[in-house]
Order: sequence, then C-alpha cells, then structure tokens
Amino acid sequence: MSQPTSLTVAVVGATGVVGRTMVQVLGERGFPVGELRLLASGRSAGRTVQVGDRAIQIREAVGEAFDGVDIALFSAGADISRELAPQAAERGATVIDNSSAWRMEPGVPLVVSQVNPEDLEGHDGIVANPNCSTMQLAPVLMALRDAVGLERIVVDTYQSVSGTGADAIAELEGQILAHVAGEEKRASVYPHPIAFNALPEIDTFLENGYTKEEWKVVSESRKILHLPALRISCTAVRVPVFVSHSEAVHVETRDPVTPDQARRLFGAVKGVVVQDDPSMHHYPLAINAAGRDEIFVGRVRQDPSVRDGRGLALWVVSDNLRKGAATNAVEIAEALVERDWVRARTRRALVEAPA
Ligand SMILES: NC(=O)c1ccc[n+]([C@@H]2O[C@H](COP(=O)([O-])OP(=O)(O)OC[C@H]3O[C@@H](n4cnc5c(N)ncnc54)[C@H](OP(=O)(O)O)[C@@H]3O)[C@@H](O)[C@H]2O)c1
Repeated sequence: MSQPTSLTVAVVGATGVVGRTMVQVLGERGFPVGELRLLASGRSAGRTVQVGDRAIQIREAVGEAFDGVDIALFSAGADISRELAPQAAERGATVIDNSSAWRMEPGVPLVVSQVNPEDLEGHDGIVANPNCSTMQLAPVLMALRDAVGLERIVVDTYQSVSGTGADAIAELEGQILAHVAGEEKRASVYPHPIAFNALPEIDTFLENGYTKEEWKVVSESRKILHLPALRISCTAVRVPVFVSHSEAVHVETRDPVTPDQARRLFGAVKGVVVQDDPSMHHYPLAINAAGRDEIFVGRVRQDPSVRDGRGLALWVVSDNLRKGAATNAVEIAEALVERDWVRARTRRALVEAPA
C-alpha cells in the first residue's frame, strides 16, 4: 500500500507541557502533517495558537473532533484517554497515548522506539507511550539484556517537576521566589514544599507500599523488555529540578560485564550517548539533557556488592518531556508510517482482503 503524503494529526492536551512539546517535535522532525488539530478542554476551546506560519484554533476534545484523523497523540491525563481513546480509534484514528490508561492492557503495544518497535504490528487502534522514568531506562537495559542477560535491577529516580505538568513548574517557581522573599512556601500540587526538598512520593500509594510511579517502572519495564519475570525494584523521588529525570541504576547481570564493555554496549544503542569522564567532571546532568532527545549514561562502574563481576552501577539522565514523552510518541508515529501500520491491524486486514 502506498503511504499517504500527509496525515491528519490531532494533539489532545495541546495546551499542556507535553502537548506543546509534541507540536514542537512534530515540526522539528518534519513529520508529514497535513492538517494539525489542537484539542484541549472546553476551557481552552476557541483560543488561537501559532504553529509555524499557521494560526490554529484550539477545539474541545470530544468524539467528533477525531473524524478524519489518522494519528491522535494523547496527553491530557488517564481519565481523558480512557474515555476518548476508544472513541478516536472507533472513528479510524490510531491513538498514541501518553497516559497510564492503556499501558498494561493486553493487546495494547507499549513501545520505546529503539527497543520494541515490532510490537506495533498488532495494534488495534491504541498504542501506549511508556512512563517517562521507564522510557529512559529501557534502551539501557536492552543493551545489557541482549549481551549479558539481566538478573535483577534496582532503580532510584530523581524526577523533575515538569513530569507533573504546568502547575508543578509554577509551584516550584513560586516557592523559590517565596524563599528569596522570606515568605511562606505554599504547596498545593505536592503534599509538601518541593523547593529545596526531595519528596519520596510520586503518584498515589499502593497497598504494597510502593507508589504507582514506582510500580509503573516495574511492570512497564517487564512488558517492554519482554521479560515478565524480571526482578526489578524502584524508589521514585521528586526533586526541585525543572526538566529531566535522573536515575541511579544498579544492575545484576547473568554473565560478567566490565564498565568498559558496558559503555561500548550503551554507545551502540540508537539515541543513547555515553558521557563518562569523571576526572573532567563529565557525566550526565539534568540541565544539559533538557531540550535534547538523547538518553545520557555515565558514572558506569562495577558494583562490588555483586559477585563475579556481574554487577554494574550507572547514572541515566533524559529530558522527560522529550524522549520521556513527546519525542518517543512522534518516533512511534514515524515507525507506524515507515512500516505502513498507521491503520489498526483489523482495518489493514480489511484493505488487504476486501470482502
Ligand atoms: N510531563 C511529563 O513529563 C509526562 C511524561 C509522560 C507522560 N505524561 C502524561 O501526559 C499527560 C499530560 O501531562 P502534562 O505534563 O502535559 O500536563 P499539563 O501541563 O497539566 O496539561 C494537561 C493538558 O490536558 C488538557 N486537559 C485537561 N482536562 C481536559 C479535558 N477534560 N478534556 C481535554 N483536555 C483536557 C489540558 O487542557 P486545558 O489547558 O484546556 O486545561 C492540557 O492541555 C498526563 O497523562 C501525564 O501523566 C507527562
């Protein structure tokens, strides 16, 4: 089947931090957008946004808004995705959903572009974009899985406030200004002040004592890496950083692996950059990763607590709004176009074998 030269693309949550980054990344990468539909809540409907030389009016995200849409990038929270993604898919759009609503649903591919793009083949109208903390971890773990096998992983995250959205960015800014002015630091997005603090609570608590965010790293990593029994644990911490998540990762491998070998393995993964020269104070940093699409890995060293040279410790940093959300979503869209899988599998089958 020949590829359409341009696609009708909808961005749901287009006024949000991730939605705006999605629009930007679509433009930067030259994605073949014919019509661009910007959708948000009724509160924003009617506002006009300038995208390049086009002035686009924001529309309310309702079912009819997806008529004629080829690809819908959703980033307006799990409730909206649960309600509207099936309606969009029903109307023939393929949804790439950035929320947690569909990620663990059997039959919904959960895809990191350089790890498991082939999982897209069977999609039935909804594809899930992983959680930002899982996203930056998966390509690094894939390199070790393929070369030396994975036995056990312990991840501690240091996550930026932009991962919560526009309100949290404003809250951190407000608390910094309040601190400088000697005023009280008011918290409403988070349960405690985030400025000059570290909060070991991201998303809600589960009965097992973990937060949902921590459990997303566990369950999503298993699904993406096709390792359903992978032993993995996570502590997720919100820190007063505006953009980029950092992660301290401890990996126990099946076979021995040296830091040099691991650096070579990481450097060979598309989109992964090794920054590892501690003598020059050169290692991945949140402020340097912000605005970039790559995943940065450094501080690679042997973990002496694991026998036989089968343990590694490393530091992984990436922009949560770009690779952690918007860039990977657009990369999924590109993979669908490249493979001619934009339409859901059942719709493709109808075209290939008309009744
Ligand atoms: N931030 C990240 O790093 C990150 C990473 C991965 C995934 N995500 C996920 O992406 C989603 C959005 O995150 P964000 O950081 O961009 O949040 P945000 O800045 O708070 O933006 C929320 C967006 O959702 C829209 N929205 C809210 N209620 C709506 C409704 N009833 N109908 C239609 N649209 C509605 C808002 O539109 P209005 O302006 O009209 O209210 C806005 O465009 C969340 O599911 C989040 O979990 C975020």
